[in-house]
Amino acid sequence: MSLDVMALRAQFPILSQQVDGKPLVYLDNAATTQKPQVVIDALVDFYTNCNANVHRGAHHLSDEATRRYELARDRVAQFINANRREEVIWTSGTTESINIVANGLVQKLGTGDEVMVTEMEHHANLVTWQQACKRSGALLKVVPIHDNGELDLAAFDSLLSPRTRLVAFPHVSNALGTVNPIRQLTAKAKAVGAWVLVDGAQGIAHGDVDVQEIGCDFYAFSGHKIFAPTGIGALWGKFAVLDEWPVWQTGGEMIADVEYLSSTWGQLPNRLEAGTPHIAGAIGLGVAVQWFGQLNSADVQSHEQALLASAMEQAQCFDGIRLIGTAAKKVGVMSFLLEGSHPADVGFILDRQGVAIRTGDNCAQPLMKRLGIPGTARASFSIYNTLEEVDRLFDALRKAKMMLA
Ligand SMILES: Cc1ncc(COP(=O)(O)O)c(C=O)c1O
Repeated sequence: MSLDVMALRAQFPILSQQVDGKPLVYLDNAATTQKPQVVIDALVDFYTNCNANVHRGAHHLSDEATRRYELARDRVAQFINANRREEVIWTSGTTESINIVANGLVQKLGTGDEVMVTEMEHHANLVTWQQACKRSGALLKVVPIHDNGELDLAAFDSLLSPRTRLVAFPHVSNALGTVNPIRQLTAKAKAVGAWVLVDGAQGIAHGDVDVQEIGCDFYAFSGHKIFAPTGIGALWGKFAVLDEWPVWQTGGEMIADVEYLSSTWGQLPNRLEAGTPHIAGAIGLGVAVQWFGQLNSADVQSHEQALLASAMEQAQCFDGIRLIGTAAKKVGVMSFLLEGSHPADVGFILDRQGVAIRTGDNCAQPLMKRLGIPGTARASFSIYNTLEEVDRLFDALRKAKMMLA
């Protein structure tokens, strides 16, 4: 079996449009993925037929909205193999999920405690811990990477200590495409008694995420990276850990009993979800994971690897391309520099030819500094991309090279 890519593409209306008279080649999937019709329909249907607030109203619309909203939680819980549905906390995305954990951690840490991150972090998984350490007096340690973009596992081992309270790392690097050995890293961190947070922003759409098998305490991800709307995501956490994690926002829905001078908190998941949530977004995320989950994950991965292999091969034969991130285990992300030109200029010329890529620091300034580069051009692939589109990327790059020479 293999993916029927043309049938998949047909489900994404945005992909049939033209840019400057040229068919769109969308290769910015690590920034955000496009949405299949089934997700768009779920949003339209929600607002057309059952818009109401959840958990509150004693009326039909509210009941139906609540049913769809909680069904979405079940679908996400099943998709990541959560042990309990209450372990799935709706957030606005990975950034908010990480911030919830960091806000709680500040109350648990003090001088002498340590937090570990890696050199390949997105700002969301670096600045958040950096600030949490500043607020708590803990020490932030940064695990180095090798020049090819793989994590230095020996350094990881030597930086871990009994003082390490939390270790945070990306499942997959957004800038380099590196897939980290998250089970191995988690096991090592758990052996010293640390909490483990996996930044799953780039991992969620690239393979089977089984949070119980990974063994981490927290897995954070965004809906928009997995064919769902923006503004919705989830923090998954082990029930026992989340249940005693300090609340972060206070207000409606998260309380048990309120007096003028004191309050008590409700049960999970509500205690970490204050206020009216992004109901339509959550429903859209539930539909997206169900839709994506029905695809054969081996087919998904082999298609993505075929796209990556074609891109990396063509890049290696292309005089003037320097690849950034050549780890042995990568997802469909190719970061590169075109010799003698700025990534922004490359991106601009590609855009004129209908090819959409990301350029810049990839929200990873310290990583760019570590690699001694100002930023990269980045093509990132998804299930609906084709080998012909990879060829179009390289046609466009040849043109860019000529124009920028
Ligand atoms: C590795 C990684 N972490 C965190 C984030 C932040 O995700 P969001 O902006 O959806 O909160 C991103 C977004 O690109 C990412 O790639």
